[in-house]
Amino acid sequence: MKSSIGLAFWIVLTGLLISTADAQDSYTIGMSQCNLGEPWRLQMNADIKKAADAHPNLTVIFKDAQNDSLIQRSHVEELVSQGVDLIIISPREAAPLTKPVAEAYDQGVPVIVLDRAVLGEKYTCFIGADNKEIGQAAGEWIVKTLGGKGKIVELKGLMTSIPGQDRHTGFLKGVDLENNPGLEIVFDADMQWLEPNARREMESALSRFDEIDLVYAHNDPGAHGAYLATRAAGREKDIQFVGIDALQHEGLMYVRQGVLDVTFEYPTGGAEAIDIALKILKGESVDKNIVLGTRVYTKDNVERGGEAVQ
Ligand code: FRU
Repeated sequence: MKSSIGLAFWIVLTGLLISTADAQDSYTIGMSQCNLGEPWRLQMNADIKKAADAHPNLTVIFKDAQNDSLIQRSHVEELVSQGVDLIIISPREAAPLTKPVAEAYDQGVPVIVLDRAVLGEKYTCFIGADNKEIGQAAGEWIVKTLGGKGKIVELKGLMTSIPGQDRHTGFLKGVDLENNPGLEIVFDADMQWLEPNARREMESALSRFDEIDLVYAHNDPGAHGAYLATRAAGREKDIQFVGIDALQHEGLMYVRQGVLDVTFEYPTGGAEAIDIALKILKGESVDKNIVLGTRVYTKDNVERGGEAVQ
């Protein structure tokens, strides 16, 4: 009798302990997105949501800073004061978002920085593809395609963001102007990742230069904006277009339609961010820097799924 009461007591106690552990096993993640203006960012959020939905113990709060670094800064601060268990951030710009990320990290909130880096080391983990490598691969593709001779327009991503800086330096390495004196960058502008800006910048490039052979845009919306300006000027047969992102319903569609000549994949990292978040929340250690791969897509290989960039 005594031992069966003891047994019942242990069963109830174990039940209580298990349910307390269950309660501690559910987590809230704050996701600070810099903007939802481009399809690529909608895809990133969708990838995060899909991965998180597979784990009923995860709740994700999404914030959209609408392309404003100050709003994004206050979103990070809000998420910290709300007491989220972990923050994922895809920052608009590096410098203005470095401090709020560092403050969250210093207060013990793990932070995963996704796609666009911040400055310094005060974050838990960075996940993204290597933009220098992508820029270089684009530059090498351009040298090969133009046979080392031609006039190039470069439409840059936001140059206060690290992908814009890296896609530019990687490209310069790839085109190697010293050893390819026949290539010339005749025009460049910061279109801040935005299609309407790219279109406007391309209009002025077209009005200034009678010969343009190729446009290298730091993303597919930029390449598409440049294409639209070129088509309106009736010069689209003379110019090749290079983009980056390779979303199924954006860049890859443009390649199939013959609008873009090539695009390089820029994975969103959304699914990987949730995988890593779970590891961090369980107390496992993770690498500080996780580099995602990229693929190159042209009309010749797009139906075969492109090719990996080595
Ligand atoms: C979307 C985007 C992508 C680009 C990435 C760089 O906002 O501009 O097109 O690849 O951000 O961070």
